[in-house]
Amino acid sequence: MTQNNYFSLKFEKDKLIYLDQTKLPLEENYIETEDYNRIAEGIERLEIRGAPLIGVAAAYALALSVKNVKKDLTPVFDEAYNRLRVTRPTAVNLFWAIDELKKVFEANRNADNVYKTLLDHAKEIHKKDEDYCTQMGKNGLSIFKKKSVVLTHCNTGKLATGGNGTAFSVIKTAFENDLVEYVYADETRPLLQGSRLTAFELAKCGIPFSIQSDSSAAVLMKQGKINLVITGADRIALNGDAANKIGTYNLALISYHHNIPFYIAAPSTTIDRNIASGEQIEIEYRDKSELLSINESQITLSEYEAFMPAFDVTPSHLIKGIITEEGVFNFPYNFI
Ligand code: MRU
Repeated sequence: MTQNNYFSLKFEKDKLIYLDQTKLPLEENYIETEDYNRIAEGIERLEIRGAPLIGVAAAYALALSVKNVKKDLTPVFDEAYNRLRVTRPTAVNLFWAIDELKKVFEANRNADNVYKTLLDHAKEIHKKDEDYCTQMGKNGLSIFKKKSVVLTHCNTGKLATGGNGTAFSVIKTAFENDLVEYVYADETRPLLQGSRLTAFELAKCGIPFSIQSDSSAAVLMKQGKINLVITGADRIALNGDAANKIGTYNLALISYHHNIPFYIAAPSTTIDRNIASGEQIEIEYRDKSELLSINESQITLSEYEAFMPAFDVTPSHLIKGIITEEGVFNFPYNFI
């Protein structure tokens, strides 16, 4: 089996070290920084991505913002907080994590060594996410009625979280329990998180898989090749409506049509307790260059317009179950 020897990020010697995901799987480059603004840029460029990992990275970034500040920490902290808040709008884990750090800052702003206090809290957020991932994997075992072929979308593994992943942790744990026969990974246009990142992680874990174009999923289902669909989420409303990578809604609709159970796995930190339904979720729109070119190579004319939502919202009635670290919840959802 291939060595599972990579990490998405780690904090060492007062620096954040993270894998630049934009170059994977062709190059494995790690970036080291103690500059919160560089981490904010890394989140914007998708060097660091995936809802829970964005939260973990932003927590470390906010702690680092006050590292070398001796007095008058508040303006520096506020500037970093506001900078991180505008990096990406959809994944609620970002807002959850930096708001947690803000509470800690407000309670300790006049204490000694605020940096260390914030850093300890960022490490707690990281550890908590790691534990949640492990627990989601275990909880997800109950959705497997037999050894199954699973289809997934986007990337939800170690590269997207502080642990083994969300949907990916469920798939990996089930594979280790002889409950996964094969995985089909949607390539996930436009930024190809499936063919670049999920393929990389499946290969590292020795899980047999194929990549297919997003538009092939319905054919696979029609041919009876898929038993289960599992994806992650970036924000879940109290009624269970779930935002995830663009194309997830299509997948949920065709799963429903083919009577294939469609599941979401996400930690409780992805549930937005302030919104009743998916209509209130802000969807990120990205630059059209991400569709008109691949790896900076132009594939069509740059003057063409492009429709560029990065996420869509799957209505909760299409989701058979939501797997969190607390258990498996089934439709109808009434999160509180
Ligand atoms: O734009 P990305 O790559 O950050 O989008 C990530 C996803 O949509 C994942 O499926 C999601 O964060 C949930 S799994 C960690």
